[in-house]
Amino acid sequence: MKKILVLGASGQIGTDLTLELGNRFGDANVVASDMKIATDEVMDRFTFEFIDVLNKHKLEELIERHGITEIYHLAALLSGRSEQKPMFAWDVNMRGLFNVMELVRDKGIERMFWPSSIAVFGPSTPKHMTPQKTIMEPNTVYGISKLAGERWIEYFNVHYGTDIRSVRYPGIISYKTEAGGGTTDYAVEIFFEAVRNGHYDCYLRPDTLLPMMYMEDAIRLTIDIMDRPKAELTVNSSYNVAAMSFTPEQLAEEIRKHLPHFTIRYQPDFRQAIADSWPASIDDSVARQRRGWHHEFDMPRMVEIMIREVAQKLEREKTD
Ligand code: SER
Repeated sequence: MKKILVLGASGQIGTDLTLELGNRFGDANVVASDMKIATDEVMDRFTFEFIDVLNKHKLEELIERHGITEIYHLAALLSGRSEQKPMFAWDVNMRGLFNVMELVRDKGIERMFWPSSIAVFGPSTPKHMTPQKTIMEPNTVYGISKLAGERWIEYFNVHYGTDIRSVRYPGIISYKTEAGGGTTDYAVEIFFEAVRNGHYDCYLRPDTLLPMMYMEDAIRLTIDIMDRPKAELTVNSSYNVAAMSFTPEQLAEEIRKHLPHFTIRYQPDFRQAIADSWPASIDDSVARQRRGWHHEFDMPRMVEIMIREVAQKLEREKTD
């Protein structure tokens, strides 16, 4: 029987992933963990452990105590926060990854998932339809840590026979938690501010084109890549995956179809340079052809769902 550990279960992706893993494999077979408390739904449904991924001993104890067979390791500092605290981010993102990978190797954990990112690419990478294999010279702390991580998971898979799987997430859009610390976060914040105040101050220029994906697609593809027989995987490091690309201006226009009075003001900050170094769109044909990946949510559908769900969430919070 599978026993799954989610590290980073209180974060944006961790929240939705934990809930869906529970739906598919049974809540009793999933252990949620993070340094901070998770949403009420996660806390109510799952066994929850407070853990810092830098504490390898506690991690080992937890894996043994629960008889863990599979790990989703999502605990990390995102791109914006990493630029503000470079050495801390390197430590959390790399030492955290090593702690988990070594335990996967030494404790015979069957499978591990670790997310990479479009941040592995840099200013010298072809910007449009960025291929699976291309020039990779990231110039952000987060991107450097993700590229190093990709190389290391491949090394572990080849030299130690571990089964660590990965995809390069684009910006992920969802409503269950508010995003935190990333460069693509504007595409989540904008909905909360649009519904709350009818206005959003955007920290990116209106024409900043970035690859994005709706959470439900991201979760489906993540669980799918973990479910496949190992022989089907042709990439030993991390797969390009994509769904849609848009700019803040295009997103604001789509939001206005639902909230006609919505206004947006552009005040680019340090995150503009991060966004400028990343691809505008991703060629994910390797994942599509070889793994049958396809996205289901485009921009208009995502916007409709986000406005509805964010409005309901904020309404519930008011009455709670
Ligand atoms: N969404 C992430 C960020 O903006 C990129 O992987 O940091």
